[in-house]
Amino acid sequence: MSSRTCALRMSVVALMVLLFAGRYAGGARAADVPYVPTPWNVVDAMLGIARVGAGDFLIDLGSGDGRILITAAKRYGTRGFGVDIDGALVSDAKREANRQGVSDKVEFHERNLFITDIGKATVLTMYLLPRVNLQLRPRLFAELKPGTRVVSHDFDMEAWQPDDKIRIAVPDKPYGAPSSDVFLWIVPADASGRWQWRLEAGGVPRDYDLTLEQTFQQLQGKSVVAGANARIGNGRMRGENISFVLVADFGGRPVRHEFSGRLSGDTITGGVALQGHASAKMEWQARRSARGKINLGAGLPASEQRMLIAEER
Ligand SMILES: C[S@@+](CC[C@H](N)C(=O)[O-])C[C@H]1O[C@@H](n2cnc3c(N)ncnc32)[C@H](O)[C@@H]1O
Repeated sequence: MSSRTCALRMSVVALMVLLFAGRYAGGARAADVPYVPTPWNVVDAMLGIARVGAGDFLIDLGSGDGRILITAAKRYGTRGFGVDIDGALVSDAKREANRQGVSDKVEFHERNLFITDIGKATVLTMYLLPRVNLQLRPRLFAELKPGTRVVSHDFDMEAWQPDDKIRIAVPDKPYGAPSSDVFLWIVPADASGRWQWRLEAGGVPRDYDLTLEQTFQQLQGKSVVAGANARIGNGRMRGENISFVLVADFGGRPVRHEFSGRLSGDTITGGVALQGHASAKMEWQARRSARGKINLGAGLPASEQRMLIAEER
């Protein structure tokens, strides 16, 4: 992050906290984030980037007046629930859902988002604060199914890079620059561990051995093909979908393999395209012989990680 971006981000957070202090001065409520509604054009962008549809179950953490859920239910028939610590906002959201005829699809509960069960979500939306996002981050991996879309208004997840991001003009924004960022993450399946398979290219069978290390959705690997080291790059997960490039020497000639497939349990099923070789495309199936452990701690100093864990208890 550049120092200018960093300074802007700090001032945005400071402004939000100031808004918070103004609103709750003297109040005893344990809210972690102030109520600032997402502008309507940003609501549209959040639902759009996640491709929310009728089959989704949407959970909005800190649901405010319920606008994200109510819009999704009305426009796409999406079901789901929102939680907010502020009982008055929960009542407003229920009333509005009723008025708009979607109270059979969406529910609102007065509840702390930190003790809300999120496992049912296929889409999770939030407009919180950077620290709250970071506190939630380990839970997103532990509780959400691979493929679940997580959308955040304005605040990112630090070392967990978004899978997509857009910037929307918001001329009358009450704090910071006159624009909003919308971030999308797709919860990755855990592909870490040792994988093996055999491929027959040009009539020659070769054994592939690949050890993958995973940090969030990024994959790094070490590979041996037919007894010789091969190079791995561009590895990533998008939900259960895996892709990476492997370059192996066949008779002294580098052959680039582009693998893509879908992970289910300890099996990957997909295809591989070989460049510089007779048979260009083949089916691919790999089996995992030993599981690894996805790395979710990057970007947070160890002292901070210990603090977050302690706070959640
Ligand atoms: C920035 S507003 C976002 C509202 C809505 N999601 C939107 O985008 O329009 C954050 C909301 O989180 C709620 N909130 C803050 N701390 C909370 C907590 N610990 N549990 C549940 N809700 C919380 C606030 O009351 C507020 O309504």
